[in-house]
Amino acid sequence: MSRFASYPSLSGRVVFVSGGGSGIGASIVEHFAGQGARVGFVDIDEPASKALVEKLTAAGYPTPLFTKCDVRDIAAYQAAIGEVAGRFGTITVLVNNAARDDRHVIADVTPAFWDERMAVNLRHQYFAIQAVAPGMKKTGGGSIVNFSSISYHTMAPQLSVYQAAKAAVIGMTRGLARDLGGDAIRVNAITPGWIMTQRQIDLWLTPEADAALMAAQCLKEKVYPPDIARMVLWLAADDSRLVTAQNFVVDGGRS
Ligand SMILES: NC(=O)c1ccc[n+]([C@@H]2O[C@H](COP(=O)([O-])OP(=O)(O)OC[C@H]3O[C@@H](n4cnc5c(N)ncnc54)[C@H](O)[C@@H]3O)[C@@H](O)[C@H]2O)c1
Repeated sequence: MSRFASYPSLSGRVVFVSGGGSGIGASIVEHFAGQGARVGFVDIDEPASKALVEKLTAAGYPTPLFTKCDVRDIAAYQAAIGEVAGRFGTITVLVNNAARDDRHVIADVTPAFWDERMAVNLRHQYFAIQAVAPGMKKTGGGSIVNFSSISYHTMAPQLSVYQAAKAAVIGMTRGLARDLGGDAIRVNAITPGWIMTQRQIDLWLTPEADAALMAAQCLKEKVYPPDIARMVLWLAADDSRLVTAQNFVVDGGRS
């Protein structure tokens, strides 16, 4: 038996996750499936996404619905969201997770690069909310979770455009929480610290970086995707039913 919570309110709930094929997103998909939710997700990484669907189906969870879709293409993205609603029913949980944190130096940033980074790190979150909000309103409410990033608090180098997008996620979250609150739609943000996905481990986890992280965090343990996924579950479940317009930092006490 798991030492972690299960949420009766998530059983059978229709959940949509962007960037659910790998990293934190895959853990979120897995955690919702483990709660008996019907999960739809998009990603551009088809092999990883299909492998996840197979793994969860083999584990006996409700089979998630994967659609290959680039969230930068808003028309295709909103159509993919509609497809999940058509198959499973009204989406009442939306997790805006997809992003890319590639490094960039100021001199190389062009207007086109700026626009593309905003499209992958911010814009799709807004238009996914636009797509799901009418259904949530009709069925009496919903929960939306937007992903920000600790990197703009810690001033991590060579990430300024990403940081601009991730800071904007917080403002967007608060504005939409106000606009949608009358329809019982909750909008919250999660700010992960440095989370040990395979990509982060492969690209950045040197012994020196590890030591610096442990010195900076109050809690001397690395944070892993399931630590974030469990916060998403709580925000999606009725247990947090009067929580909205907030930002939840999960970083082991680093910021
Ligand atoms: N891992 C960390 O340390 C960390 C820290 C702070 C914030 N975050 C945030 O948490 C969220 C998840 O992070 P992660 O580390 O798992 O990211 P990741 O890069 O490992 O995974 C993101 C997923 O999104 C998908 N994706 C990328 N571009 C896409 C596109 N255009 N269309 C559709 N899918 C696309 C990727 O294929 C991948 O499956 C992101 O919003 C990220 O900004 C992560």
